[in-house]
Amino acid sequence: MKSHRLYNDLAYLWPVISPPEEYAEEAGYWRGALRDRLGPGEHRILELGVGGGHNLSHLTSDFSATAVDISPQMLALSIKLNPGVQHHLGDMRTVRLGQTFDGVLIHDAISYMLNEGDLRATFATARIHLRRGGVLLVAPDWVREVFKGTTVLHWVRKKGDVEVTIQEYLHDPDPADTELESIFTYTIDENGNQRVERDTHIMGLFPVNTWTTLMEEAGFEVETLRLPAQDGGYGAFLFVGTLRSPQGVVS
Ligand SMILES: C[S@@+](CC[C@H](N)C(=O)[O-])C[C@H]1O[C@@H](n2cnc3c(N)ncnc32)[C@H](O)[C@@H]1O
Repeated sequence: MKSHRLYNDLAYLWPVISPPEEYAEEAGYWRGALRDRLGPGEHRILELGVGGGHNLSHLTSDFSATAVDISPQMLALSIKLNPGVQHHLGDMRTVRLGQTFDGVLIHDAISYMLNEGDLRATFATARIHLRRGGVLLVAPDWVREVFKGTTVLHWVRKKGDVEVTIQEYLHDPDPADTELESIFTYTIDENGNQRVERDTHIMGLFPVNTWTTLMEEAGFEVETLRLPAQDGGYGAFLFVGTLRSPQGVVS
């Protein structure tokens, strides 16, 4: 997997670029989706690809949480923000914690799954970590149906003495494959000193039907929820899977 500077040497910028408070509304939909299906109680949830734990930070007072990420730098951010959460270093395709949960959450980190093999492996991880009737929430940034071609997003965020101007140039170099490329430019002003950093992310792009079919093949009943899209159209889908009983599982 390509090294993403934002989750490595530039991880300290994550809380500036995408602050936790901006996740409150979206986390409300996640809380609602879990409560609707699991009912009241402090259910056990596992987030795969927790990043800085910004989305999760809005759920920790309702649920008992465990989190996994492949980046030690991002895990360190989430540990600081969510001290009551158990954190583990791991890859969502292969991690095995030897525990089951009531819910498994995969937020925008699922965007780094680049082909159907990656998605199958990740949904198998989710299934192995869920009790029967448990709930899987998956929220890719983009699905094929809403990606309208080359898109440029631009935003500015400031925290303390650090201001970052972010430009994201998102394009699909080869429409025949399942990948999108995002080229990020960060103009960083720290105490009046400016520098520019560049970062390239490759992300998966699949039609809605691929998401639902692969989740069903992994043993889930799937509902497709529409959420208010973010700027540019991303984040419009939340796929909700409920783990079927073993006799219903297609192997
Ligand atoms: C956009 S960040 C997630 C941000 C998170 N939603 C939040 O609220 O802070 C994406 C994360 O996916 C993680 N990631 C990418 N590939 C992964 C994999 N194969 N397994 C686990 N985590 C992965 C990255 O390390 C990064 O922390």
